[in-house]
Amino acid sequence: MPAYNQSMYLELDKVIETNKGQKGAVMMTLQSAQDIFGHVPKDVQIRIAEGLGVPLSEVYGVATFYSQFALDPRGQYIIGVCLGTACYVKGSKDVLDKVVETLATPVGKTSPDGLFTIKDTRCLGACGLAPVMMINDDVYGRLVPADIPGILNKYRA
Ligand code: FES
Repeated sequence: MPAYNQSMYLELDKVIETNKGQKGAVMMTLQSAQDIFGHVPKDVQIRIAEGLGVPLSEVYGVATFYSQFALDPRGQYIIGVCLGTACYVKGSKDVLDKVVETLATPVGKTSPDGLFTIKDTRCLGACGLAPVMMINDDVYGRLVPADIPGILNKYRA
C-alpha cells in the first residue's frame, strides 16, 4: 500500500491554495491529488472540500463521476480482463471469475497485499487473441481459467 507522508499533504495544500476560487477548481485539484497520492481516498476528498470551501458531496460527486479517478489504492499491477463481445463469447467471464476467485478480490478492488487491482474492460483491440487479459502492459490471449493462477504467480515473485 502506498505510504502517505506529510509532504504529500503539504503539496496538496499548495494545489488547493492555487486553485481556490478558480473555475473547475474541484476537477483540477482532484487531478493533482491523484498525481500526488495515486488515488483520491476519503480523507483527501475531505481536505479538498474544506480547503476549497465546497461541499464534500460536490468533491465526491466529481470523483465518482469520472472514471479516471480511483477512490481506492491501486495495485502495483492492473489486471484488465476484456469483456468485449469477441472475448465474452470465448469465455472471458470465466477467466475474470477465476481472477476474482484466485485473488479473493472483487472486480474494481485491490488485493489485500496491494499487488493487483482487477478491472473488466471493453475491447482491447486484440480480438484475434480472445479471450484477452492485460496485466499492466503484458497481453495474455487465448486464455482458459486454468491459466490464471500460474500467470498471477509470475507477478508475485
Ligand atoms: S473483444 Fe476482447 S480484445 Fe476485442
